[in-house]
Amino acid sequence: MQWGRIAVFASGQGSNFAALIQAQQAGKLGGGSIELLVSDKPEAPVAQRAEDAGIPALLLRPKDFGSRELYEAAIVAELQRRDIGLVVLAGYMRLITPVLLEPYAGRIINIHPSLLPAFAGKDAIGQALDYGVKLTGVTVHFVDGGMDTGPVIAQRSVEVISGDTAESLAERIHKVEYGLYPEVVAAMAAGRVELNGRITTVSSL
Ligand code: GRF
Repeated sequence: MQWGRIAVFASGQGSNFAALIQAQQAGKLGGGSIELLVSDKPEAPVAQRAEDAGIPALLLRPKDFGSRELYEAAIVAELQRRDIGLVVLAGYMRLITPVLLEPYAGRIINIHPSLLPAFAGKDAIGQALDYGVKLTGVTVHFVDGGMDTGPVIAQRSVEVISGDTAESLAERIHKVEYGLYPEVVAAMAAGRVELNGRITTVSSL
């Protein structure tokens, strides 16, 4: 498996997917190349982005399969056929099962719009606003079987400003995501991320 052959998984807008494509085009993805989009929502805007960029897409509806495991087995077969070595979740709204986790152990990463372990799960930005924190941010982490529980690779903070709405805060958080995620994907693609237990080390990020 080659680290630099990347599949991006997304369910929605795909603005992080777009940022990763731009980074690749600018030669800033550590030699990595995005070989495939996987989406569980064939009608999502991210599918159109893949088409526009000429990136192959695997668009499968989980409900067309007998179980979550069969759905993921179909994905794994395609990943292996394309020799994918790195799975990048970018707004992929499903938990991953052992069917994908086992063959891709240590090779699946996710981006989450909070400073984990605060505000895991859905609507992290709304959760942070409701809680009243003054500082939130972005986390990139390895994926395990839990909800946003895997080892942290990188984090960046974003201040909550008085009068922030979910939209205004989301806009600043997304900007940080578009900078941070390509950097981490580049580091992964170049083999610059080490994992020991829960502790990760990124060389020259
Ligand atoms: C991002 O905020 C990401 O942190 C979260 O889902 C959102 C995806 O947005 N996991 P987009 O589809 O990349 O625009």
